[in-house]
Amino acid sequence: MIFAVTNRLPEPAVDLLREAGEVRIDGREQAIPRADLLALVEGAEAVLTLLHDRVDEELLTAAGPQLRCVANVAVGNDNVEVEAAERRRIVVTNTPGVLDDATADLTMALILATTRRLAEGDRLVRSGEPWSWGMGFMLGSSLQGKRLGIVGLGGIGTRVAERARAFGMEIAYHSRHPSPAGAELGAERLSLPDLLAGSDVVSLHCPLTPQTHHLVGVEELAAMKPSAVLVNAARGPIVDEAALAAALAEGGIAAAGLDVFEREPEVEPGLLGLDNAVLTPHLGSATVETRTAMAELAARNAISVLRGQGPLTPVTAQ
Ligand code: GLV
Repeated sequence: MIFAVTNRLPEPAVDLLREAGEVRIDGREQAIPRADLLALVEGAEAVLTLLHDRVDEELLTAAGPQLRCVANVAVGNDNVEVEAAERRRIVVTNTPGVLDDATADLTMALILATTRRLAEGDRLVRSGEPWSWGMGFMLGSSLQGKRLGIVGLGGIGTRVAERARAFGMEIAYHSRHPSPAGAELGAERLSLPDLLAGSDVVSLHCPLTPQTHHLVGVEELAAMKPSAVLVNAARGPIVDEAALAAALAEGGIAAAGLDVFEREPEVEPGLLGLDNAVLTPHLGSATVETRTAMAELAARNAISVLRGQGPLTPVTAQ
């Protein structure tokens, strides 16, 4: 078995691959240049990719006809042209489930950071500017009794809902199909316009697809309450970032917590000077435990496919 691994991965995952076959690995932490990526995958039977590696016709051709599996180390697979892989009978897998808790934790961190102005307060303290406790000083808003509107009640959205309930929030959601988890949580399923108009915090947890590209744009932001907060720890292009920067600057909505951006690692310049935007560098799954579990799941997927035992968590129809 020949595995190509496009970035440094946690050692336990690399060990699994090494026990199963030959491993060609590019040990860099950042996205590797395209030419290096195309050269690395040549001759591989399985490729382990990260979310910044574009897997398209060009890459599949560069790999060669022996390629049987693309194991993406992410739950999102918008970087992979799944149909191109399917045409070649290449199995694509992702890493659902193992990152739900970590991403939900980060989402709650963004909800708390925006509603309680944590980043702004941190900047104030560090600035050396004088400040003092006062009844009206740096007030935020409480979560208790407020409505959280979740767009996409899958694994991550459900974990966010559970956490938010512990903070006393009422949950509503929007998704294409009614969710059993929604019923268990007592969450109301609403149309997107109703969810946007009636929520105090809107949190996005849907995949990026052609249908969800710019799902939240000028009109959707205008439909939200001026006191509302938007959180995105899913994929940047789900939100029209320029429209969001304008809405935040003009008071159209109160605040935004963003872990993802339309053109990562670039960020819409209009967001950078805004105190009501909390910006983090795609940290949703960034815990030692979670990244190890993601990499191990991707490795197990690749090994299982090459052994002819089928994928554990497939994206493509088998
Ligand atoms: C991270 O963003 C992922 O999709 O796993």
